[in-house]
Amino acid sequence: MTTLRPFTCDDMLRFNKVNLDPLTETYGLSFYMQYLAHWPEYFQVAESSSGEIMGYIMGKAEGHGENWHGHVTALTVSPDYRRLRLAATLMSWLEDVSEKKRTYFVDLFVRVSNKVAISMYKQLGYIVYRTVLEYYSGDPDENAYDMRKALSRDVKKKSVIPLSHPVRPEDVD
Ligand SMILES: CC(C)(COP(=O)(O)OP(=O)(O)OC[C@H]1O[C@@H](n2cnc3c(N)ncnc32)[C@H](O)[C@@H]1OP(=O)(O)O)[C@@H](O)C(=O)NCCC(=O)NCCS
Repeated sequence: MTTLRPFTCDDMLRFNKVNLDPLTETYGLSFYMQYLAHWPEYFQVAESSSGEIMGYIMGKAEGHGENWHGHVTALTVSPDYRRLRLAATLMSWLEDVSEKKRTYFVDLFVRVSNKVAISMYKQLGYIVYRTVLEYYSGDPDENAYDMRKALSRDVKKKSVIPLSHPVRPEDVD
């Protein structure tokens, strides 16, 4: 059985197995604490019946006017629990929170090499809104796709008209 519940501070001491995945971004503890303090409603964990962390999603709401949106900062599922539609469930849950906050869209950044995640987001209704050049630092740096899905408040679906040109990280709001 899978339980969805709010992420707690203790979970940061238990999520190593999930975060060992090379495509899962790992941040400093203060970063997770900042999300827990500001947007606890956007931080959910999926737990197995034996108490193991199966995956989690962390996000926030930000922006002004028609740029008011939900953002997925991290989404990861343990290799032991993939292809069970856990990520799809966590995404749907974050979209519901964003709908309740009356945001216009949900967005996220993904490495252009992360084909599995890109195809999953497309299957969930997301489109590539724009490319962000060298968004991920490394050797070499890697571009990101900024993917978006319009929510019901964006009646004219203006938020998902793709940009024709790439942008630099400093131009991302
Ligand atoms: C990407 C990731 C979150 C998917 O988690 P998941 O729980 O296995 O995904 P789901 O079972 O919810 O899959 C939903 C849909 O996405 C697609 N999908 C997911 N994984 C796939 C794979 N390995 N190959 C092909 N399609 C895949 C499928 O269409 C799937 O629907 P279906 O199973 O009914 O066909 C997981 O692989 C992961 O944690 N990867 C490492 C971290 C990462 O890349 N996070 C995203 C960063 S932006």
